[in-house]
Amino acid sequence: MNKNPFSQPTIEIKRRKNPKGEYYHLNTKELLDAVRQSAHSTHRADLDILLDVFLERYDARQKELDSLNRELEERIEIEVNIGKKNYKRYEQQAKMAAMGEMMDAVAHQWKQPLNALSMMSDMLVDDFRTGDVDQAYVDELSLNTQTQIEHMVTTLNEFRNFFRPKETKENFGIKRCVQSVMLLVNDEFMKNNININIKSDKEIIIYGIENEFKHLVLNIINNAKDAFNERDIKERYINISFYKEQSYINLDIEDTAGGIPNNVIKDIFKPEVTTKEIGKGTGIGLYMSTQIAQKFDGSLSVENLNRGACFKLRIPTQ
Ligand SMILES: Nc1ncnc2c1ncn2[C@@H]1O[C@H](COP(=O)(O)OP(=O)(O)O)[C@@H](O)[C@H]1O
Ligand SMILES: [Mg+2]
Repeated sequence: MNKNPFSQPTIEIKRRKNPKGEYYHLNTKELLDAVRQSAHSTHRADLDILLDVFLERYDARQKELDSLNRELEERIEIEVNIGKKNYKRYEQQAKMAAMGEMMDAVAHQWKQPLNALSMMSDMLVDDFRTGDVDQAYVDELSLNTQTQIEHMVTTLNEFRNFFRPKETKENFGIKRCVQSVMLLVNDEFMKNNININIKSDKEIIIYGIENEFKHLVLNIINNAKDAFNERDIKERYINISFYKEQSYINLDIEDTAGGIPNNVIKDIFKPEVTTKEIGKGTGIGLYMSTQIAQKFDGSLSVENLNRGACFKLRIPTQ
């Protein structure tokens, strides 16, 4: 072989087909180390290539992250919408359940005066036949009829107010509100031998939607009624007291129905938690009641006392 001592040494140029590809297998830390080494070496070989690989990877991650974020936002929106829809559904169910319970109450409330009216009209026919009807008789009959009808009208008005509620906030008295609920359920609770006692004398005024407050009270006392009946309790009392304590107004509704079983007590304020048979319970009542409590900036809790459950509503004074 003819060797020319003056010729340039042949430099073998290795063509690297895909220099970036040589670095793809590195993990991010290794890649960063390689960037660092290259940046600190004198000829900085491959620094650009390494940085390109690094940036490509960074862009790809960024895109992944963006799309994950978007997905997350969509998921959150979907969940929020489901939550809103469920809430509306619960609200509707609670209204329907309350309406059913109120219908029962009104039916009971009307049964007695309707019977009385029917008896009076029978008696009138008989007494007229035997000639016992004079002015005094008619006056008394008229008075009695009026009383019965007034009773029915009052119930009906209460009932109407309950379901065509004013949605505006206003000042109202707790005592008056509880009494109005009692008026509605009076006959039904009497039929079930349940004594409701209001233990507090002094009226306390609070601010909010009165009707919602009535719903809360109704939900709680109706639950007590169910518990009395399910368990066949002999002594049936519901004691209601309200009082101020530091910067709170408290309403305690205590029953003698034996209390809430330990395994359900922590869940009873969740929606659709019920121990009742299908058709008897929806599990919505107490959930809605906590929502109502929150609208008053308050909270609802429960504890088992000696003889039964005690529901406690706490509302901060403004
Ligand atoms: N005063 C009470 N005594 C015993 N258990 C109660 C009482 N109040 C509520 N509970 C329990 O809490 C559950 C949930 O009540 P609620 O949300 O009103 O739904 P529902 O009455 O439709 O079952 C009831 O099924 C019952 O087991
Ligand atoms: Mg209930």
